[in-house]
Amino acid sequence: MELTSQDRYQLADGNQMPKLGLGLYKVTDEKIMDQLLDGAYASGYRLFDTAQMYKNEEMIGRALKNSQASREELFITTKIAEENQGYDATLRSLENSLKALQLDYVDLLLVHWPLHQHFFETWRAFERAKEEGLVRSIGTSNYGQIHLEYLATKAKEMPVVNQVEVHPYLTQKPLQIFSKEHQIVTQAWAPLGRGGELSDSVVQTLAEKYHKSPAQIVIRWHLQNQTALIPKSSHLDRVQDNINVFDFEITNEDMQTLDDLNKFKRISQEPELVYERGAQYPHN
Ligand SMILES: NC(=O)c1ccc[n+]([C@@H]2O[C@H](COP(=O)([O-])OP(=O)(O)OC[C@H]3O[C@@H](n4cnc5c(N)ncnc54)[C@H](OP(=O)(O)O)[C@@H]3O)[C@@H](O)[C@H]2O)c1
Repeated sequence: MELTSQDRYQLADGNQMPKLGLGLYKVTDEKIMDQLLDGAYASGYRLFDTAQMYKNEEMIGRALKNSQASREELFITTKIAEENQGYDATLRSLENSLKALQLDYVDLLLVHWPLHQHFFETWRAFERAKEEGLVRSIGTSNYGQIHLEYLATKAKEMPVVNQVEVHPYLTQKPLQIFSKEHQIVTQAWAPLGRGGELSDSVVQTLAEKYHKSPAQIVIRWHLQNQTALIPKSSHLDRVQDNINVFDFEITNEDMQTLDDLNKFKRISQEPELVYERGAQYPHN
């Protein structure tokens, strides 16, 4: 079946989430943010991904307020930062995020990283926030299978989305299979390998073969693997290019070739270390 830009995944809690969204990490210039959000919306994007850590929630709130977008159509994700974990701190910081975003609720709230110190109380706050209607769906980020299984020992409700690092050099197949079996949608961050994997010779060759850009090849690979994703670009032409992926299909053989690029190469933090340390170590 052909995918369309409006295509959504069904979440286990009954809500739906667009398969493809726009990541906004490192977008901190107000003029660029305004242009990006307007242009992305016009191109069909409905999901916008931010985090307390990105320090751009206020800017996004202003941009959305001034845009043509209706609230019901939008899907806004934010994430609770490590320093705001714990039961009370999570709820307090969510209030601040909602104020900054000028929203009554976010569509998806994620625990940004698993932390052993606040593991269950943070999640309890998430369940409470959902009961109170401050968030429509609750999920996790950077959780491995072991964190999800541990969470299941006490959670009343399980995450419906787990946002993790996934790109051709880090495919995370076993985690994705586990998540699918437990009705958790995997959403890829750094889906383009931060741009670095676009110059891989296999990706380049396939781009020529399909008359598409390397980014479109990688994005289509994610979609055909049934992974949700949030590629980021500060350039509107690239943002538009990145959603123009619904008019071609990668063959099974070429999908396998892309899967085989996996080399367990992480771009950013090792979740297990963040879990132990209680904080991200100097991040890039
Ligand atoms: N949950 C987490 O812990 C976590 C961690 C990191 C990121 N995230 C989220 O995931 C989103 C995406 O991840 P990411 O920003 O780290 O990496 P990414 O989306 O894999 O890559 C972004 C990089 O690729 C470049 N790029 C984008 N489209 C391109 C195209 N069509 N052609 C050539 N280059 C292109 C961008 O350059 P330009 O901007 O210069 O165009 C940027 O340098 C973030 O924005 C954030 O929302 C979440």
